[in-house]
Amino acid sequence: MGKYVIAGNWKMNKLPSETYDYIKEVVEATKGAECEVVCCTPYVCLSEAVKAAEGTHVSIGAENLHFEDKGAFTGEVSADMLVDLGVKYVIMGHSERREYNNETDETVNLKAKKALSKGLIPIVCCGESLEQREAGITMDWIAIQIKKAFAGIDAADAKKVIVAYEPIWAIGTGKTATDDQAEEVCAGIRALLADLYDDATAKEITIQYGGSMNAKNAAGLLAKPNIDGGLIGGASLVAADFAVITGAAK
Ligand code: PGA
Repeated sequence: MGKYVIAGNWKMNKLPSETYDYIKEVVEATKGAECEVVCCTPYVCLSEAVKAAEGTHVSIGAENLHFEDKGAFTGEVSADMLVDLGVKYVIMGHSERREYNNETDETVNLKAKKALSKGLIPIVCCGESLEQREAGITMDWIAIQIKKAFAGIDAADAKKVIVAYEPIWAIGTGKTATDDQAEEVCAGIRALLADLYDDATAKEITIQYGGSMNAKNAAGLLAKPNIDGGLIGGASLVAADFAVITGAAK
């Protein structure tokens, strides 16, 4: 439905000194991909990543940003700084940041609006815990996350946003949602977006699955009608694995 986007999320892995060569490896390995290929790297790797990806089919993203333009926010990085480096995408609302760094639905919304206003593409993460899934409230929980993330964003901007559905219990655990479990929630997210906006807008929004997506299970997940890509952690750290996933997105 939406444009296929496969994005790596390196998290706190790889060194700045490894980045240039690794991005070149990804460029080579993912040649001919029919999807948008993105590598989201730690802040300190971004300038090397952008340099290595320049003039290629690979785009670079950050793993976070601050929602203010500038000022006394020690240790933070603004949208303007990312744009100045040549970064195109930015992840927000990842469950790890929600757990360890006080990320909330409100800061996700502020970050999404800031990113859009500066021409960055937000990758907005949502997802339920195992406890919530077992209690049968997965879609209720995700509806709150999505409604709050998109608050005050008009349809024209909403179309640019990427939603990443990442069940927390599947992240880094090797425990992937089944194709049907992932599709069910991604379809639910699409229906919710159609309610918030309209069918045409909802169809244009890229909805990714994330959570232990790898070279083996990617094709099945990506064949589902409402899964338009993936946010890939562990498997994005090995170019050959990442390339199998980008190759499956068509
Ligand atoms: P994983 O991470 O692929 O290692 O499970 C996905 C993510 O957290 O974005």
